Amino acid sequence: MTQHAAEAAEAALAAYAPYSKFRVGALVVAEDGRTWSGCNVENAAYGSTICAEANALGSAMASGHRGPIEVFVACIDATHVRDATPCGNCRQLFSELGVTHITITIDGTDSRRFTLDDLLPHRFELPDDPRPS
Ligand code: THU
Repeated sequence: MTQHAAEAAEAALAAYAPYSKFRVGALVVAEDGRTWSGCNVENAAYGSTICAEANALGSAMASGHRGPIEVFVACIDATHVRDATPCGNCRQLFSELGVTHITITIDGTDSRRFTLDDLLPHRFELPDDPRPS
């Protein structure tokens, strides 16, 4: 496991996942090496659950970071979900917030690296994109 994947796995230890018992951690990495972590936070109203990726991305944005980033995701309870990949909502967040690559590590062993195009081809973007370049 790389250092970034290991840090994502460490973030998963803080997951609040009493319903699914599926702990996920995420690490956002900027080009200058700065990092932000997050874990999934579930809710009795299941739809109010926040994914690990969304929390890590929120931390990066809250610190003021803008620009290209990579995301490392670690599932640490995935024995039966070895091919887990980020949900559709998180993929749309990746598109909005400049995520170039996503590496997913399952139980510290299986590791796969995707581009955003791999995970979200033909994505929705506004024609007059107001985002800073
Ligand atoms: N989950 C994430 O945090 N990230 C993913 O990429 C997939 C799913 C969480 C949401 C929920 O807490 C649990 O995993 C089961 O869906």
